[in-house]
Amino acid sequence: MIVGVVKETYAGERRVALTPAALPPLVKAQLEILIEQGAGVEAGFSDDEYQAKGARIVDSRAQVFSVADIMCQVRALGANPKSGRADLELMRSGQVIVGHAEPLTHAEPAQALADEGVLTFAMELMPRISRAQSMDVLSSQATITGYKAVVLGADHLPKIFPMMMTAAGTIAPVKAFIIGAGVAGLQAIATSKKLGAVVTAYDIRPAVKQEVESVGGKFLEIELEAAGAQDKGGYAKAMDDVFISKQQEMMSQAVADSDLVISTAAVPGKKSPVLVTAEMVHRMARGSVIVDLAAERGGNCELTKADETVDVNGVTILGPTNLPATVPYDASLMYARNIASFLLHLVKDGELNLDMEDEIIEQTLLTQDGQIVQRRVREILGLDTPAVTGAEQGSAN
Ligand code: NAI
Repeated sequence: MIVGVVKETYAGERRVALTPAALPPLVKAQLEILIEQGAGVEAGFSDDEYQAKGARIVDSRAQVFSVADIMCQVRALGANPKSGRADLELMRSGQVIVGHAEPLTHAEPAQALADEGVLTFAMELMPRISRAQSMDVLSSQATITGYKAVVLGADHLPKIFPMMMTAAGTIAPVKAFIIGAGVAGLQAIATSKKLGAVVTAYDIRPAVKQEVESVGGKFLEIELEAAGAQDKGGYAKAMDDVFISKQQEMMSQAVADSDLVISTAAVPGKKSPVLVTAEMVHRMARGSVIVDLAAERGGNCELTKADETVDVNGVTILGPTNLPATVPYDASLMYARNIASFLLHLVKDGELNLDMEDEIIEQTLLTQDGQIVQRRVREILGLDTPAVTGAEQGSAN
């Protein structure tokens, strides 16, 4: 089977779906790798490096699409809603597309992919189970994001992170407050701590208290009964408005006391909860910084503007939406390992192994046979009857 990689076309996207280091196990599994000329250059990987690991370089994007059985992308159409459309006419029925597709937030492009007859695997739908950890692109990229959010915040703060006792006086450490202690949040806690900040963190799931403490943060206890705030998938459930307003009251003080606030609170597929209100921002000291990682879906801060820097009475609010693309080398190394691991799972003896009994395949497969087959996406689109897949037809007989 031929696996193709093309240059990303989303504005500012510098990552690449496969790196030279990820190729040897794929080549060993008899997969032929085809790379569009220059596809990895912005991430720091030259054509020569790909060739040295057994890939073939071709001149054009169209050439890759025309022969590849499996296309690997960082951003497939749903996650690249404008430029991604141009790929539709290059796709072939039965071709496999693997990448971010954001079907829970942009469900319509999924239909366009289905109409092309391609099999799309949306990597962000990977179940968060131990067996799938090596394929979990949300986790790998959120790790990068948590780190970079701190570095970005540090760059905008008029203060240094560590406490310093010098002949020129004592400098107090930065106070960082991290909201949401998932993958990005935990990495933000660890990175802030390593730089010398005093770190407090809050999450709606009290179960993460130990994890917060294990990376050096203090867990902010909010005296609310949060039992039941964790579902089977390990994600937070949407909380009702009353809960959120009580929570805001209790967080207000923590925000006002902090130099740096990094917010990562997300509920998959939903608008981000507003946790830092305008009033809280007004209580912060001049020079403080908020890095709102939930900016793409509305933001955790009421005043965030996606991909803009907002100044409110001297408080800087940053809403970056694609931090992994700002560290494309390591972000691509991690993403490529996830993709390679998924490909090795998907292909057996040179054939696609579409085992619909397998949670990994069943949950990530978005389109097949001209239909959207993913259950959650069908629900969002109001396609209430489950699509009947080949595997289900077989088992029903
Ligand atoms: P995650 O699902 O692992 O963690 C989110 C955490 O927020 C969970 O622990 C959850 O319990 C918590 N949470 C949810 N609602 C909350 C509330 N009301 N109050 C307090 N905590 C709450 O997600 P992950 O992977 O850490 O991603 C975090 C965020 O970063 C997401 O919004 C994601 O879209 C975003 N992200 C942003 C990027 C960027 O460049 N800006 C890149 C990658 C991810």
